[in-house]
Amino acid sequence: MRHLIDFGDMSRAEWDALYRRCSDIIDRPEAYRDACRGKVSASLFYEPSTRTNFSFQTAMLRLGGSVFGFADPNSSSVAKGETLKDTVKMVSGYADVVVMRTPWEGAARAASLYSDVPVINAGDGGHMHPTQTMADLTTITRLRGGVDGLSVGLCGDLKNGRTVHSFIKAMEKFQDVKFFLISPRELAVPGYMRDFMREQGMWFTEVTGLEAVIPQLDVLYMTRIQKERFLDPLEYERNKGIYILTRRKLDRARDDLLVMHPLPRVDEIAVDVDDDPRAVYFKQARFGMFARMALLYDLANQPRMDPEAVEIGRERVCSNPRCITRTEGYLPPLVKRIGGVDCCAFCDAPLR
Ligand code: NCD
Repeated sequence: MRHLIDFGDMSRAEWDALYRRCSDIIDRPEAYRDACRGKVSASLFYEPSTRTNFSFQTAMLRLGGSVFGFADPNSSSVAKGETLKDTVKMVSGYADVVVMRTPWEGAARAASLYSDVPVINAGDGGHMHPTQTMADLTTITRLRGGVDGLSVGLCGDLKNGRTVHSFIKAMEKFQDVKFFLISPRELAVPGYMRDFMREQGMWFTEVTGLEAVIPQLDVLYMTRIQKERFLDPLEYERNKGIYILTRRKLDRARDDLLVMHPLPRVDEIAVDVDDDPRAVYFKQARFGMFARMALLYDLANQPRMDPEAVEIGRERVCSNPRCITRTEGYLPPLVKRIGGVDCCAFCDAPLR
């Protein structure tokens, strides 16, 4: 594995190896103190972040490496109109690995075409967030022994929540996972995700109510309504505060349920849930740091490589207004098939 753009690009064997490494780091952190000594990670955060940015930074520091970058693009040449291609090309000349978060869907894939060093997608708009999925899988595996056969409720904004999309993508590598997709109808998973689940033969059901399904769940993955992704503010107003998990609602849940959340939470988990032993979201954030250590250990130690020449795009093929190809006009018109449909290879949206 050279880049981590989409969890779907990783094989089960690669994930198992990464998890074994992560588990070893959790058990013997001192053995990894110098694992990235002399390595430098670039951190390009074009949109707000607390956990992901800090956990990547601390992960690199705990491996003996160093970090530079920006958390506010207005302080970089992006504000002068520099293209993503030029920023990445140049930054990859300074760093051994590039970690990036953007509001544009498919931006990490785009960056990987021009980078001399591995690129890690730390969230690309409402699209994917594969390292959050590594945190999620590490949490479930450490606390429940494995992922196969579990019933997982994903609740909240399943349309715009990239952590949800990455998580579903990853489940294709596991056996007999059942999904209860809990959302208002207008915030249901995007069509390309539904096509993906059907194509993979995954079991899923879409419901609007949380309480009725809680007793059946092994994992309840709560998510925030993603205010910043709404093009229509009224749609946000209609949906905010729609699901609130309280201690009382957990009365009917299994004793060994895992209540997870990628954080930050707004109001979807009441504070009185925090002290319930089933609430593992703060542990999950810490596991995320160890998972990122395992990933950086692998990727920051790879040799530099000149990327292959990339075709220059002449026309826009993707109509998704949030796709990176809309603003970076030089990107090649790459296409992939999902569920028998031609889709944009950057953002996964179907091509019309
Ligand atoms: C998530 C994200 O940025 O997508 N946060 C995170 O990385 N832990 C979830 C969110 O913002 O709701």
